[in-house]
Amino acid sequence: MTTNQKYNQFIAFLIFSFVINASLSSRNWKAPDDQKDKNSYIKFDASTAAQGEAIYNANCASCHGNPGKNNALKSLNPIPPDLSSTASQSLTDGELIYILNNGAGLMPSFKNSLGEEKEWMVISYLRGFNKNYIQELSKFDPAKSKLVKLVSSFDKASNSIIVNATADEKNGKIAIVGAEISVFVKRYFGNFQIEKALKTDASGLAKFSFPTDLPGNKNGDLEVLVKLYDENYGEVQVTKTYSIGVPTDKPGLNEDRAIWNTLVKAPLWIIGLYATGLISFLLLLAFLLNNLRGIFNSKV
Ligand code: HEC
Repeated sequence: MTTNQKYNQFIAFLIFSFVINASLSSRNWKAPDDQKDKNSYIKFDASTAAQGEAIYNANCASCHGNPGKNNALKSLNPIPPDLSSTASQSLTDGELIYILNNGAGLMPSFKNSLGEEKEWMVISYLRGFNKNYIQELSKFDPAKSKLVKLVSSFDKASNSIIVNATADEKNGKIAIVGAEISVFVKRYFGNFQIEKALKTDASGLAKFSFPTDLPGNKNGDLEVLVKLYDENYGEVQVTKTYSIGVPTDKPGLNEDRAIWNTLVKAPLWIIGLYATGLISFLLLLAFLLNNLRGIFNSKV
C-alpha cells in the first residue's frame, strides 16, 4: 500500500466515524445533569418486567415496535429508536424515566397517563434486553412518607408561617433535616406559589414571613398548602386555613360580564337596532309573499 492509499483510507475512516458519531448523538433531547442518576425505588424482577411488557405493548409498541424486531413506525421523523439497541441501553435509568416523564418531539409525556410506578415497570421490561445491566436501587422508600408528620402554624408576632417536619421512626421521633419546603396559597385555578427556596434546619423547622397583602375571602381566610420533598421520605403535604389575608368582598369579575346577569341590561340603541332589523325583514317577507300570490292568481 502506498502512502497515498493509506492517507485515503485514513480520511475514509475519519468520515465514517464522524457519520457514526453523528447518528449516535442525533437525539433531540437531553436530561438535565441532576436527573441522570435518578434510580428506581422498585426492585426490577420477573414480575415487574411482565407488568412492564403489557404496559409497553399498550403504550409504546405502536411507535417503537417490539424490541429487537426492527418494526418501528418508519413514517415518523426521527424514527422511534429500537429500545433494545446498544444506543438506547446506554442511557441511564434516570435518563429513561426523564424522557418518559417529559417526552421529546413526537414522543408524548407519560407522566400523567402512566405515572412513575408504571414507567419504572416499563424500564424494568426494557432492561431485560440488556445482559450487562445491573440495577442500582434508590434510597427512597415510598412507605416512608407515611411516617412523616408535617405541621404548619402561624406566628402572629413575626407574621410568619412555621413548618415543623418530623418522622416517627422505630427508634423514636426524629427531625427531617434539609428537606425542601414550598408554600402555596390555594386559588380557584390551581395553586399560587409564594415560597420555594426553603429548607428545614437541624431541628426540622422552617420559617418564612408571610406577605401581608394577599387577598382572602370575606373574612380574610387563606388556604395555605405546605409541601415537603425529601430524598428519603418523598413528598408530603398539609393544608391549613388561616385568617391572614386581606378581607375581600367584591362581586366577582364574572358577575358583570356574565351573559345571564340581571344587573346590566342591553343598551337601548342595541334593542332598537335589533327590533328595526327584525321588523324590516318581516315586512320584506310579507311583500314578497304578496307578490308571489299575485303571480299565481294571474295564471290564465
Ligand atoms: C407517538 C410515538 C411514540 C410513542 C407512543 C412512544 N415513543 Fe418513545 N420515542 C418516539 C420518538 C419519535 C423518539 C425519538 C425522540 C427524539 O430523539 O427526537 C422516541 C424516543 C424514545 C426514547 C429515547 C431512546 C434513545 O435512544 O434516544 C425512549 C427511551 C423511549 N422513546 C421510550 C418510550 C416508551 C417506553 C414508550 C411507551 C411508554 C414510548 N417511548 C412511546 C416516539 C414515541
